[in-house]
Amino acid sequence: MSKIVRKTMLVSALMASLYSLAAIAVQDQAIPDDAIGLSKTSVYDVPEPAVTEYGEADAGTVGKRAERSYMTAPPMIPHTTKDMLPIRQDFNLCKDCHVQPALIGEKITKGLPVPAPASHYVDVKEGQLYMGRWNCTQCHAPQAKVSPLVKNTFKKPGGK
Ligand code: HEC
Ligand code: HEC
Repeated sequence: MSKIVRKTMLVSALMASLYSLAAIAVQDQAIPDDAIGLSKTSVYDVPEPAVTEYGEADAGTVGKRAERSYMTAPPMIPHTTKDMLPIRQDFNLCKDCHVQPALIGEKITKGLPVPAPASHYVDVKEGQLYMGRWNCTQCHAPQAKVSPLVKNTFKKPGGK
């Protein structure tokens, strides 16, 4: 056996034993049950998150609009959606208040529904809603006061 071959064999034998040592070390470092997921409790616990309670203010009584998360984000629904959901093919109360093409660009006073913007219509003048926007709650969500389980660190572009 040449000197160089012997040396290579020795090195690979050494590497192999180092690898298995490393594997044993990893096996020894068991991750505790409460450090696996995002939850602070053990993964074997069944957590009971607080019930989400949505605001009960009737449409037209809020007068305040929620701050948008970022430009072009669908605004949150500031009023209750009680008795308005689920939206169906033949049932859409949102549309009855918000399809107000004549109000687009007008100053919105308290109590008046914010008109659905031009992007929501096939024909704004005719007030003909684009059917791809029929299911309003696919994009617009009602608000609830909850403390998030995991803090969101998202910042709007250009924001502080
Ligand atoms: C009875 C009329 C009425 C109905 C029905 C209604 N809204 Fe509203 N909506 C309003 C009014 C009025 C406002 C302005 C805030 C306020 O005073 O409540 C508003 C505000 C909003 C806003 C906030 C817009 C912004 O720019 O911040 C969204 C989004 C919205 N509504 C979506 C919906 C959706 C989705 C539904 C159906 C689940 C719905 N609304 C049903 C009257 C209504
Ligand atoms: C596919 C997603 C989507 C659907 C479905 C949708 N919207 Fe929107 N909506 C948006 C987005 C995004 C904006 C913000 C648009 C912008 O800033 O130009 C918006 C804006 C609005 C606004 C605020 C307008 C303003 O000037 O502040 C109202 C009110 C609204 N939508 C009502 C509705 C209603 C009512 C429905 C159902 C008939 C609906 N939307 C369906 C995505 C959607």
